[in-house]
Amino acid sequence: MTVRVGVIGAGVIGADHIRRLSGGLTGAVVVAVADTDAERAQRQASELPGARAYGNGQELIASQDVDAVLVASPGPTHEDDVVASIAAGKQVFCEKPLAPTQAACERILTAEMACGRKLVQVGYMRRYDAAYRALKSVIDDGTIGAPTLIHAAHRNPSVPDSYTASMAITDTAVHDIDVTRWLLGEEIVATRVLRPRRNSLAATHLADPMILLLETESGVLADVEINVNAGYGYDIRGEVVGEKGTAELGDASLVVVRGDGHQRSPVPAGWLERFSGAYDLELSDWIGSVAMGKATGPSTWDGYAISAVSDAAIAAASSGERVVVSLPERPALYAIGPLSATSGRQRRQ
Ligand SMILES: NC(=O)c1ccc[n+]([C@@H]2O[C@H](COP(=O)([O-])OP(=O)(O)OC[C@H]3O[C@@H](n4cnc5c(N)ncnc54)[C@H](O)[C@@H]3O)[C@@H](O)[C@H]2O)c1
Repeated sequence: MTVRVGVIGAGVIGADHIRRLSGGLTGAVVVAVADTDAERAQRQASELPGARAYGNGQELIASQDVDAVLVASPGPTHEDDVVASIAAGKQVFCEKPLAPTQAACERILTAEMACGRKLVQVGYMRRYDAAYRALKSVIDDGTIGAPTLIHAAHRNPSVPDSYTASMAITDTAVHDIDVTRWLLGEEIVATRVLRPRRNSLAATHLADPMILLLETESGVLADVEINVNAGYGYDIRGEVVGEKGTAELGDASLVVVRGDGHQRSPVPAGWLERFSGAYDLELSDWIGSVAMGKATGPSTWDGYAISAVSDAAIAAASSGERVVVSLPERPALYAIGPLSATSGRQRRQ
């Protein structure tokens, strides 16, 4: 079966997903592209044999020749298109965040639960990254004993002018919130946000860098540096401290060069380079799940639980206080089955 995909949002990552789906990956063809920038949609569609361009997502979702939908527009626009895809009974891959607020994510959760089957995969691609998977295996097999601490850093070289203060949490830290839950197989119950002296090179409306402190159900503490004007490159770090040892993400560079009295290895320029293999795997997993008729990757529940933490972190950033995450019981539709590479470890979730 060849899955006919409609892509909503043809910006940086939308264009990259189109390239993947219509190039290297098998089992899918992009038949439609929607973007509120009509010229952009038209330009992308014109490069794909037989593809149609739309000026909005709703028409694309309703189109008979679209089997499944990929949403890659900005976060605040996700809700309407994801809910419409669910209403149309079409599987949908939604880039992170599922939506920028818990209330919006709850409306998506409610729609999917009313439909009674999982149709949504959220683009938390770190779960498909080889280094993160190796780190998770080491935790799951007990090599380092029970985790007690996580030290993580999310550094971007810079961000565009359109990046708002809350996006440090709703767009950037959400990846770290996701992997903390996924690596440990636990929900996050409370958070604090600490601010050092701000980087004078950051745009004045940004409080950059910042530290998110995340507390999990069992009492693991994760400190996450969010630093989106790091200047030197895209640097993603993670170390898990256990009762018997530690495990750390390997360096993403493949080659270390020694010469002239120096040792050098490249730092990735950006996320497209660092997580290229993960994007390939997550999309091929999604295409496989559409062919099977059931979403299997990071779920609406994951998107919702992450938004509960990001809402709490936004409140914590403004109050300076510890804020408890408000999360109801995990519904049966999202019960964790047998261990898989992308599902969480089965513990108290
Ligand atoms: N998983 C990842 O690593 C990763 C990386 C980058 C971006 N993202 C996510 O992908 C999404 C898009 O990010 P981007 O960097 O490609 O943004 P972008 O600004 O480059 O592109 C967004 C595109 O969506 C279009 N658009 C805006 N509103 C729309 C609407 N209502 N309907 C249809 N099209 C609309 C814009 O015209 C633009 O072409 C965001 O949610 C972002 O957080 C995820």
